[in-house]
Amino acid sequence: MPQIIFLPHADLCPDGIVVEAQAGETILNVALANGVELEHACEKSCACTTCHVIVKEGLDSLDPSEEDEDDMLDKAWGLCPQSRLSCQSIVKDEDLTIEIPKYTINLASEG
Ligand code: FES
Repeated sequence: MPQIIFLPHADLCPDGIVVEAQAGETILNVALANGVELEHACEKSCACTTCHVIVKEGLDSLDPSEEDEDDMLDKAWGLCPQSRLSCQSIVKDEDLTIEIPKYTINLASEG
């Protein structure tokens, strides 16, 4: 079973967390199932960017992002080359290390 490390995030998992995942689940669902309340304002339909995460390790094991995801990601706060929408990223057999950006677009626009 692949392990997913969620690095510490001040609000969502202050100490970070290491969890077991099932291949085939999305990163978002793994997070939610383990008490890491990543935002998912569009209910996982690739229509917001609030589930944005940065895949620090294991990015190559994921299927490449589709055009829809790339279009949305362009609007994400803190976009970087390892950025993915966690609701669209399906865990494979490899371990992943995930950084949760400090802000989502919702929080950033609220200042
Ligand atoms: Fe909206 Fe992932 S929850 S894009």
